[in-house]
Amino acid sequence: MDDQHSAVPATDPFALFDAWFAEAKESEPNDPNAMALATAEKDGAPSVRMVLLKDHGPNEREGGGAGGGFVFYTNAESRKGREIRANMQAALLFHWKSLRRQIRIEGPLEEVGAQQADAYFHSRARASQIASAASDQSRPLADRADYLARIEALEEEYPEGDIPRPPHWTGFRLIPRRIEFWLDRPGRAHDRRLFTRDGAGGGWSDTLLYP
Ligand SMILES: Cc1cc2nc3c(=O)[nH]c(=O)nc-3n(C[C@H](O)[C@H](O)[C@H](O)COP(=O)(O)O)c2cc1C
Repeated sequence: MDDQHSAVPATDPFALFDAWFAEAKESEPNDPNAMALATAEKDGAPSVRMVLLKDHGPNEREGGGAGGGFVFYTNAESRKGREIRANMQAALLFHWKSLRRQIRIEGPLEEVGAQQADAYFHSRARASQIASAASDQSRPLADRADYLARIEALEEEYPEGDIPRPPHWTGFRLIPRRIEFWLDRPGRAHDRRLFTRDGAGGGWSDTLLYP
């Protein structure tokens, strides 16, 4: 559906995401790839935190799977990791304040393969590899010195180069079923377009939404 009064084009949503993301990379002061990730317990209780988008696109899935994806990396034993294991679906939210735009993305999750997780882990700075390998993310820490001692121990164990990726440090891919673009307009008469599809392989439908 097209509408001459909307400034959110009825185009391929991955292409529209890329266009907006490119503008955000120019205008955001930090981390244009930062997004809120909402997960939920099996009983539905939600939680949300920021993560970084690391890979995305219509051909993102390994092995030629359909649907494309949006990938983030984390510790699978963290709070979010436990929620994801119990309930393999999530919602992502980008809010680019410099552009006054929002994108909401929802769908099921799958874990990335070991090769993809290794490649990303080893693309990170050595200090980041060590800091994440030393962290029992989201679990209680009695004294920050305990964490710093673990970092030091890993630095001694691996005096140079990459360190092995811990098996619980991995990535998850959200396969989008809904992508909504929100554009600030004068007088709060904002402009929203929602793209949906039923399955990973199907085509997209779209509709405008009242703001
Ligand atoms: C801008 C920003 C980016 C972040 N990126 C990540 C990330 O990519 N992966 C990650 O595990 N945590 C990231 N964090 C930390 C998370 O927000 C969160 O504190 C941590 O993952 C623990 O969340 P959990 O207890 O809900 O599992 C980021 C935080 C901020 C503020």
